[in-house]
Amino acid sequence: MTIKLPQNQKIVFETISPTEEKTFDQISEETNLKFEYISGASFALEEQGLISITTHSISEFSLTDEGSHYLQHSLPELRLYEAVRLLGELGTKFDLSQAIDQSSLDKNEVSVALSNYARKDYGTINQGKIVSSRDFDTQSDPEQVALTSINQGTEIDQSVIARLESRGLININQLTKRSIILTKKGASERKKGVQISESITSLTPQMLSQGNWEHLEYATYNVEAEAAPYIGGRVHLLRETAEKVKDTLVGMGFQEMEGPHVDSEFWINDCLFMPQDHPARTHWDQFALSVSPAQNLPPDLVKKVQSAHLDGVGTDGDGYHSPWSEAVALRVGLRGHTTSLSMRYLSGQAIGPLEPPQRFFSVEKVYRNDTLDPTHLLEFFQIEGWVMAENLSVRDLMGTFTEFYRQFGITNLKFKPHYNPYTEPSFELFGEHPRTGKLIEIGNSGLFRDEVLRPLGITCDVMAWGLALERLLMLMYGFEDIRDVHGTLCDLQLLRSTGVSY
Ligand code: PHE
Repeated sequence: MTIKLPQNQKIVFETISPTEEKTFDQISEETNLKFEYISGASFALEEQGLISITTHSISEFSLTDEGSHYLQHSLPELRLYEAVRLLGELGTKFDLSQAIDQSSLDKNEVSVALSNYARKDYGTINQGKIVSSRDFDTQSDPEQVALTSINQGTEIDQSVIARLESRGLININQLTKRSIILTKKGASERKKGVQISESITSLTPQMLSQGNWEHLEYATYNVEAEAAPYIGGRVHLLRETAEKVKDTLVGMGFQEMEGPHVDSEFWINDCLFMPQDHPARTHWDQFALSVSPAQNLPPDLVKKVQSAHLDGVGTDGDGYHSPWSEAVALRVGLRGHTTSLSMRYLSGQAIGPLEPPQRFFSVEKVYRNDTLDPTHLLEFFQIEGWVMAENLSVRDLMGTFTEFYRQFGITNLKFKPHYNPYTEPSFELFGEHPRTGKLIEIGNSGLFRDEVLRPLGITCDVMAWGLALERLLMLMYGFEDIRDVHGTLCDLQLLRSTGVSY
């Protein structure tokens, strides 16, 4: 009896070879059938013992931007080595700074060069001096050679792959490839010929109304058959992380604030005891809007804020001794921080007067007229927060940050004293970049001054902060340029493959 197979299986069965393995991709190309059909048909044929499937796992390598750069310009440590050799004899001590000048490496490249020079045993670097201690051909450096091989798709020295990956010079993509070959049983069945089976893959309304559905033979589905990767839409990593931040803060007992992106300078700056002639209040920093001035500011509060600016608060208070004009306070712009929301809430204007203890947060966009670079955008998400309670101290702030960041796997925070017109004491927060080891600033914080709190009618302490969500992402996922996740230069592969863990 000749064997009966559904159409796709018949095509695959007749295409494959008894002597030479073919991959799903090859067969898909030869038969013009989609990859997923080949995969489905192959698994069904394997189940019947007609073919056998072999699975190969394959690593594909590609150069990162940095890798491509070194492909062209040579690895920094090699350039440093060459520079030292140009300075003079093997074994001679030269000034490190002289070698660096000679090498024309840029700042980042210098730190890469320094950390690899001794590791590769080119020589030693000690107390500002550098020595080259062996003679070799830089062209034959195994890591440099591997960059070329990867670029050309030729055989790669496997022993340097892990190192190149940890240096961030290559991406490794693990693929599973399957190939198939005819079995003995398959070959003898094929000799006898193959018929198309009448089994059907979809039921039509006609089959149902005519009643013949009962007598038909149905194709079985193989739900484990491999399909081509499906790249669908997904929530952006930044939004996803913002949600996790919100959940985390809610878990720590905070409530969410909301409020306008466009606001009066009164809420953005004046309530925060920012003098009206402060440099951060110019167009160099803030985006002003050419719209009519704000209305409906609470007149009592305006008076108290004005008096804090002019005369300070309390008996021994002092103000700025510079003019304060309501017209400036009424100007409207894009908020440069969400501390404007904190002011609206603390003043009682947002949801009514608040009694301590209270904890509030927001994770919202802010806008600054910065220069675009790897760590600055013109807009970013700020994680704003404050706690209102009796007897707060810097220890409470540090503890809150330690607890918050711990939930994102960040445990090596550093704190640095800082100045803000509105907090005293103040400190900036730093975290270590997981890849480069550099400290990056991730936030700013402090305890609000009396000059801020008194006009708002608050007599207890308020500790507060603004953290950058994008910087938190950098620490969590190890990318080095904010533009990897934002805008036209974003790294789609990173955005597709990185998920937030809860
Ligand atoms: N507004 C500050 C900033 O944008 C953050 C901050 C908020 C600092 C509250 C102290 C208190 O950097």
